[in-house]
Amino acid sequence: ELKDNTIIVVLGASGDLAKKKTLPALFGLYRQGFLPRDVKIVGYARTKMDRDEFHKRATSYIKNPDNDPEIATSIQHFKDLSTYISGSYEDGAAFDTLNEHLEEIESHYQSKECNRIFYFALPPSVFVPVAKNLKEHCYVTKGGVNRVIVEKPFGKDLGSARELLSSLKQYWTEDETFRIDHYLGKEMVKNLLVLRFANVALGAAWDKNSVSNVQITFKEPFGTEGRGGYFDEFGIIRDVLQNHLLQVLSVLAMERPVSFAAEDIRDEKVKVLRCIPPIERDDTLLGQYVAANGKPGYLDDETVPPTSSCPTFAATTLWIHNPRWEGVPFILKAGKALNEAKVEVRIQFKDVTQGIFKDIARNELVIRIQPSEAVYLKLNAKTPGLYTRAIPTEMDLTYKRRFTESRIPEAYEALILDALKGDHSNFVRHDELDVAWKIFTPILHWIDGQNGPRPRPVNYPYGSRGPKELEAFITKYGYKRSGEAYAWPVTNLA
Ligand code: BG6
Repeated sequence: ELKDNTIIVVLGASGDLAKKKTLPALFGLYRQGFLPRDVKIVGYARTKMDRDEFHKRATSYIKNPDNDPEIATSIQHFKDLSTYISGSYEDGAAFDTLNEHLEEIESHYQSKECNRIFYFALPPSVFVPVAKNLKEHCYVTKGGVNRVIVEKPFGKDLGSARELLSSLKQYWTEDETFRIDHYLGKEMVKNLLVLRFANVALGAAWDKNSVSNVQITFKEPFGTEGRGGYFDEFGIIRDVLQNHLLQVLSVLAMERPVSFAAEDIRDEKVKVLRCIPPIERDDTLLGQYVAANGKPGYLDDETVPPTSSCPTFAATTLWIHNPRWEGVPFILKAGKALNEAKVEVRIQFKDVTQGIFKDIARNELVIRIQPSEAVYLKLNAKTPGLYTRAIPTEMDLTYKRRFTESRIPEAYEALILDALKGDHSNFVRHDELDVAWKIFTPILHWIDGQNGPRPRPVNYPYGSRGPKELEAFITKYGYKRSGEAYAWPVTNLA
């Protein structure tokens, strides 16, 4: 449950993540009445600015296009409960100042119990000093909870991730730590548990007997514009596959948890991930975008080293060695600067037994995570009319059409609310992170050139569907296109 007398401290409050995600999410929760009673928000960062300047930044991504007076009032109230302190991340004395500010706020609270939630919207280089300083200077001991919310990057490979995690553990326990992977806060990712375990019809087909192959796809229509410096050090695998797509895979593939309790769910996720061996080079396709249609190539970005071989696209196939999934390829693919914005899961079922039909399309269950959330099942029906021919069509659950009254929450809203309630289900446990790195570290070391020359990614034009080699790659793992006869109605996307 929510605790009264809570202060949420946003560290790195002047940065991009705070401005674009954290603070708007806090506002969204506030406006819907989901923040604790008497909540206060405190921004902390190095940048010197006064409260007005902070408020201006903090609310710059909050939308009120029609100047709705009710929203305007909420924004004003949100400003009233937010303050800002500037200070260094390394200097203990600066955190004493922060602590005095927090104590001042708490002195107005009715009860003695105080709760502090520290949100790290910070570059990884200061994770450890900030964790240390918070513990040593800003930790409340007089009842109530202290929690830290942290976000990737958690290291760059197994070794560095372990080092980082154990440094943080010196100061914050697992119970106090909430590691965000914001994909776990997305509505359709959370929906996977319900779709799988609340439906006998779907659950029954969820294994190697019925499923031929699975694709989890992430597509973005823009390049690294402006983030090239950060991106080049990490690459698409660390940026998207190793965390977001692998999280989706683990929820999709795990066994049924004993209950919805956080540790029951996370136990199952870890278990299935442990059945996945490190990715093979042969199961990998790497790409990098080049200039096309008036758009710059990756190497044209001034923040990128001119000969970089950093992949901006990757497709990798993972294998799960357990009785449910043995032999079913799970293809994770992600790319920047592609033809569209889309994230989806596509489960392709096996062919119908030969005999009465020829060349009939396969069933596919598609879960569209974004945009326009949907679940649809491609299936064959009789062509309407005086024929006995099958036609590929679909059963469609497009959320906008079916749930017209519902507002789908932002991922960060859902997750911050969970952290306020102390619910770890949708946060990444330390051992989960450890196995995730085990799966990806060898391939990352190869890409980084740690044991030989760096592999050169293949080129693909900005705005295309990805490398031309992709089609052969997915075909190799058994994916079959449904052919000309089937097209998803464009109106379903609108
Ligand atoms: C972030 C990556 O974790 O996720 C970004 O660092 C990416 O590169 C983003 O753009 C995608 O998130 P979303 O919610 O827009 O799909």
